[in-house]
Amino acid sequence: MRVQDKTIIVTGAASGIGRAMARRFKADGAKALILADMDADGVAGVGRELDAFSVPTDVADEAQIKALVATAEAAHGPIDVFCSNAGVIKMGDEDQPDAEINLCWQVNTMSHVYAARAVAPGMAARGSGYLVNTVSAAGLLIQVDSAAYTMSKHAAIGLAEFLAAKYNPAGVRVSVVCPQGVRTAMTSGRLETPAAVDGMIDAEDVAAAVVAGMDAEQFIILPHPTVADYMARKAGDRDRWLRGMARLRERLFAGEIKQ
Ligand SMILES: NC(=O)c1ccc[n+]([C@@H]2O[C@H](COP(=O)([O-])OP(=O)(O)OC[C@H]3O[C@@H](n4cnc5c(N)ncnc54)[C@H](O)[C@@H]3O)[C@@H](O)[C@H]2O)c1
Repeated sequence: MRVQDKTIIVTGAASGIGRAMARRFKADGAKALILADMDADGVAGVGRELDAFSVPTDVADEAQIKALVATAEAAHGPIDVFCSNAGVIKMGDEDQPDAEINLCWQVNTMSHVYAARAVAPGMAARGSGYLVNTVSAAGLLIQVDSAAYTMSKHAAIGLAEFLAAKYNPAGVRVSVVCPQGVRTAMTSGRLETPAAVDGMIDAEDVAAAVVAGMDAEQFIILPHPTVADYMARKAGDRDRWLRGMARLRERLFAGEIKQ
């Protein structure tokens, strides 16, 4: 699907990957952009820059996602593309507080459930639409320094696979965007991040990969192509791959990994 002439919602649009996608969609001729973020001032600024609607929204709250879609449809008609992109990370192991695990679950996983509930049936009825969910390479592999992030992003992949199997026959496409390290607010100040082992890229690089992946209607969009090799290694020999993950954790906590 080309983004030209499409009506597109982007969540997490005040910053980073969401803002870069919004800018790219605008440059590529989207008909209407509806930008959502819990950072009301930030998303209003991006909205002014792009002449787009901005709607303060907490994506962890289903009522707010419903209201976002209702506002967007009242102004612009049916939604062609829903980019469910807002996300959070909390570092820690399996003993990190339930509140942090639940926050990652709500923002990184349930927000995609709420988006699908709000727009996918209408897309299927029209025979066209696109759910673009920003997940992470951590959803395909793991995030060795965050159990909560790993769990929530793995679940997001499972959900997207379910949605693709359900809705692709009705003409609704689903993609998961799975970068490793991207220079955004999420990674700034974290000098040691396992996602940086293959180099950090810019949010604009992710936006370019998203547009290309949507054109090709690929389920998995990999801004870092090397992730495909890691997926193959994981599928080929899970025990060997886990030994590699253990070594990566050791290097990370020994301070050997820098951006
Ligand atoms: N930066 C990376 O290295 C990286 C790598 C892989 C995946 N990702 C994913 O990319 C997505 C975007 O992250 P980013 O790197 O641009 O980070 P970012 O911090 O720059 O942007 C995230 C945006 O989401 C918003 N947000 C957070 N919680 C929200 C909520 N409950 N409701 C509405 N908005 C909320 C924030 O206000 C912020 O504007 C996330 O899903 C993240 O997990 C990032």
